[in-house]
Formats: sequence, C-alpha cells, structure tokens
Amino acid sequence: MNGLTVNLHLLMTTFYRPTQERFKVLIEEHAFPSDHFAVASQVRHHDRSAEEALVAVSPRPGEDLLHAEDLIAAIAEHGDQLALVLLPGVHYYTGQVLPLTDLVYAAHRAGAMVGFDLAHAVGNIPLGLHDSGVDFAAWCTYKYLNSGPGATAGCFVNQRHLGRTDLNRFEGWWGTDKATRFQMETVFNPIPTVEAWQLSNPPVFSMAPIRASLEVFERVGGMGPLRRKSEQQIAYLDHLLDEVLKGRVESITPRSLTERGCQFSLRVVAPGHSGRGVFDALDAAGVACDWRHPDVIRIAPVPLYNSFADIHRFVQVLDGILS
Ligand SMILES: Cc1ncc(COP(=O)(O)O)c(C=O)c1O
Repeated sequence: MNGLTVNLHLLMTTFYRPTQERFKVLIEEHAFPSDHFAVASQVRHHDRSAEEALVAVSPRPGEDLLHAEDLIAAIAEHGDQLALVLLPGVHYYTGQVLPLTDLVYAAHRAGAMVGFDLAHAVGNIPLGLHDSGVDFAAWCTYKYLNSGPGATAGCFVNQRHLGRTDLNRFEGWWGTDKATRFQMETVFNPIPTVEAWQLSNPPVFSMAPIRASLEVFERVGGMGPLRRKSEQQIAYLDHLLDEVLKGRVESITPRSLTERGCQFSLRVVAPGHSGRGVFDALDAAGVACDWRHPDVIRIAPVPLYNSFADIHRFVQVLDGILS
C-alpha cells in the first residue's frame, strides 16, 4: 500500500506513542533522508523537538560501517527514554546488513518498539521478520522487486500485534472486514492481518507489475535459491575485485556474507581518477549502476537476472576505464 515513507508514517502512528518519559527515537546518523524526515516530523507532531528526541548513532571516526555493539550500547544508554528504534535492514549507502534479531532483542529489553526500513533488503536477502521479533517494517517494490519507480510499497506488522484493540491506527475502508465492507456500515472490523492498516483502494495498474514480479520470484523457488546463487556471485565479484582491481577500487560493503546482500558500494581509489568520472564512464559503457553522493558507485549483481558473465564483463569494463 502507498509509498514506503507513507507506510513508515502510518506504522509510526501505531508504534511511536511517546509519553512524557519515553519519547526518543533511535536512528542511524546516515539514515536515508526520507526516513530522517519522517521520524523528525513525527517527533514534532508529538510536540517534541528533533534535538531532544532523536538519537543518531554514527560509524566510528574514519569508518564507514556501523558497529552493532554501538547501536546496542546506545539503545541501552537511552533505554528508559526510548520509544522507538528505526533502522535499515540493508543500508542504502554501504550495503551493510544489520543483525535484526540482536537489535530487536536490545530494543525490547529497553522497552522500545522496533521497526525496519527494508527498501534494500526485500528481494535481496532472506528475511525472517516474525522470527526476528521486529514490530513493524516497510519497504518499496521498485528496487529488487522490479516494479518500477513509485510502485506500491509494502509493510509488515508482527502477528503478535494483530487483533489488538489497544493499538492506535489511522483507518480507512480498505482496512475493514472484506465480507462486510460493501454493506457500507460505519463499524470498523479490522482485517486480522496487516491489511487492517490499509486505507484506500489499491492502485491496480501499479499492482500489476508487482504481481508479475512476485510470480517470477515464486517460479524460481523464492529467496532460498536466489540467495544461494547470490552468495556465489558475491564471492566471484569479491574475487575479481581483489584479482584485477586491488589498489584502484575498494568495496566498503562488509565482506562477510552474514552482513551483506548483493549490493557492492565501490570507492575509486586509483590515483588520477574521480569516482564520479568513473561512474559516468561506466554509464556510457552501458553498465547500469548508481552514483551516491559523495563518493560511492553502487552496483548490484542481481541473481534473478544477472549472470556470472555480466560480473566478469563489468570488471573488464571497469579495468578498461581505470587503465
Ligand atoms: C532506504 C530508503 N528508504 C526510503 C525511501 C523512500 O521511498 P519512497 O519514495 O517510496 O517513500 C527509499 C527510496 O529510494 C530508500 O531507498
């Protein structure tokens, strides 16, 4: 339903219920700007300032990646005042995967709710959302779910919150029981799933590519087989980067497979080359990749449609540009 940011707002109306004592939101310093804006405006909506209510955790000085233990320490430090922890599943800039279960455990121990932005995680890494205990999550469908910019987004509410009558929620007729919806009564009977959070008719034209894409995911056996191929592709590209481009290009994405999906965030370190110049040359050579300010080229060998030969060719093209 909606877009990712809209869904974050709707889910925060339910899961961010600040009190006088417990009102802080923990995010990471380099959160995707829309998430930062959403959280800051929620805080203001509850008559608090971002300065007093936002706790932003950064990578350590000189480092790119977050340390899970730093996040957990900050959660504990602000424990009594913490209402919500909102973090990415896969970081959009670095490609780092955060340990959902450990963070959920820490947040719940502190008495806070916890939500995840899964824009770069859905369709990229296997996710066990119920098992991880996360309270809510939202994602878009226009990255690894192939559905086109602005396509209808998704959201998740943990089963343990379904059917609760003490939750606040913004409601509309698309969240009420399908059997009685068209009786046009004004009693809201929440659908006993995350659908209770739906407000409106879904945009059918936007849902069509999502359906087609999800059918393809199903046809190939879902995330299990895709991830198995992905792990081999990640290892292959890491190997080629070491073999062919060492000292000229480095990946800031964690190397360990437990901390990453198929995204590589590459930094050009070859003397005499600018990252932006190399990106433009890749683009001109027909490589579909992405520039993230200030200095990262994001590439993603996607197991659904990229081959090992694509990866080899990418490295050859990049080597050619840097030579
Ligand atoms: C990590 C992340 N969060 C939020 C958004 C915003 O998505 P939307 O425009 O659907 O609200 C994006 C979009 O690229 C994103 O990558």
